[in-house]
Amino acid sequence: MKKVKAMASEEENCENFEERVLKLVEAGYETVAREAIACKRCPLYKSAIRRVIGKGSCNPKVFFIGEAPGKTENETGIPFYGRAGKQLDKMVEYMGLSEEDWFVTNTVKCRPPENRRPKASEIECCKPFLVAQITLLDPKIIILLGNTAEKSYCPERKLEWGVPVEHEGKTVLKLYHPAALIYTASKIEVQRAFIDKNRELWQ
Ligand code: URA
Repeated sequence: MKKVKAMASEEENCENFEERVLKLVEAGYETVAREAIACKRCPLYKSAIRRVIGKGSCNPKVFFIGEAPGKTENETGIPFYGRAGKQLDKMVEYMGLSEEDWFVTNTVKCRPPENRRPKASEIECCKPFLVAQITLLDPKIIILLGNTAEKSYCPERKLEWGVPVEHEGKTVLKLYHPAALIYTASKIEVQRAFIDKNRELWQ
């Protein structure tokens, strides 16, 4: 009974989405990061060692959204630090991006236990941080790395892989998650073709 009550109050904290985003944007990037580090709006904080806020340029052309921090990200506080990170670096190199061109974060800032996918309720609770980051960094294009990123950023849409769309005033492109390229090497060539077709979006 007690547990159910605790969950309910965590969910209540997810209300007033627009208002929260606006407040965060007005407060500025440092406050977004500070609030995300102190956040207890969903249960994920209970098992997190470090919050993983994001890394990269403060004036990016490309804003990547991954899924969730994994084990090494949880330990270091740095997104895409492990094997998937090496794959993302290769992808970024193939895209022709330099360090000041890109930023990466995840749908949630805390690692889900046992590396499970983040739940819809957790993604929703964390979304004001994500939207505030996008608003403040104002990239040319948002690249969704896989289906979880799509569920977070455009939950009401089903995008085609490698086909850009306009969503809430931003250009959005869904590409394969770097981890998918590790498990299915044949996707590397397909991903490169998606990148080749869309280069003008970030060049
Ligand atoms: N590391 C991250 O930060 N995000 C992912 O989605 C995978 C690995």
